Amino acid sequence: MMRFSWLRPMAWVGFGVAMLWSGLGLAWADKAYVPERGQLGKDVIWIPTPKGLIDKMLAAAKVTSSDRLFDLGAGDGIIAITAAKEFGAQSVGIEYNPQMADYARRMVQEAGVGDKVRIITGDIFKEDFTSATVVTLYLLPDLNMRLRPTLLRMKPGTRVVSHAFTMGDWEPDEHVVHESARGYLWVVPASVEGEWMLTGMEGGPARLNFQQVLQKIGGTITRGSSSMHLLGARLLGEELNFQFMTPDREVHRFNGKVSGPQITGMVTSSGGLITPVQARKR
Ligand SMILES: C[S@@+](CC[C@H](N)C(=O)[O-])C[C@H]1O[C@@H](n2cnc3c(N)ncnc32)[C@H](O)[C@@H]1O
Repeated sequence: MMRFSWLRPMAWVGFGVAMLWSGLGLAWADKAYVPERGQLGKDVIWIPTPKGLIDKMLAAAKVTSSDRLFDLGAGDGIIAITAAKEFGAQSVGIEYNPQMADYARRMVQEAGVGDKVRIITGDIFKEDFTSATVVTLYLLPDLNMRLRPTLLRMKPGTRVVSHAFTMGDWEPDEHVVHESARGYLWVVPASVEGEWMLTGMEGGPARLNFQQVLQKIGGTITRGSSSMHLLGARLLGEELNFQFMTPDREVHRFNGKVSGPQITGMVTSSGGLITPVQARKR
């Protein structure tokens, strides 16, 4: 026979009070956490990027609602929040410090962008951020260099924006300045190095040869025994532009796009004649 013990209901009440107390305690502890400028992080301390510079960095990267931005080392989430709230992007912040990540999640909720921003507690050297169309950094020069090979393997056209620190000999495509702070923008370049067969131009097919180091390119167009140097060649992500002078000393302008092994674009003669052309990687 089961015997009633007056201790049993008392125990349940006690347990309930304890749970409520510890829950309140946890909530209070979370709310009480306020990060301190300069506090240690795994690979770099926390100092937030000034809002004025964030606005300029995201504007330079032309962030829109079609973008997916990853902030590597998210801190209080300010970059991810701004990208979502003011530029309409989906954004993800990766932050190693779990308390800081919780704090950033709170900031996300307070900013009302919980549907657009995700804060991951994790290590930027372990988490996969390669689905990003925009990557933001405020790290250190050697950390940027460790990330560089991954960034350069990302989809051509991906924008990388860094507060304060550069990327070795990968020169920025653009600089932004806010008061004494500086930001740098790179656009991941398509790969064009090597030989291409160019068709569509008057006079028949030609060989297009590119030499490439990062986004810097040069090259030639060769038809038969005549070779023309590419002038002012520029590669910005997948956008390719150059000029060349034909033997009759006419300057032609090429504007087009690289999509993997295919280049498509237009050649405009000095007289304004526009010819659609294409090239295939050999
Ligand atoms: C200089 S703060 C930049 C914060 C924010 N991105 C901004 O610009 O305002 C760098 C942040 O990276 C975090 N961090 C350091 N090493 C990390 C790592 N390996 N993985 C993820 N986060 C890291 C730090 O805790 C800190 O919050």
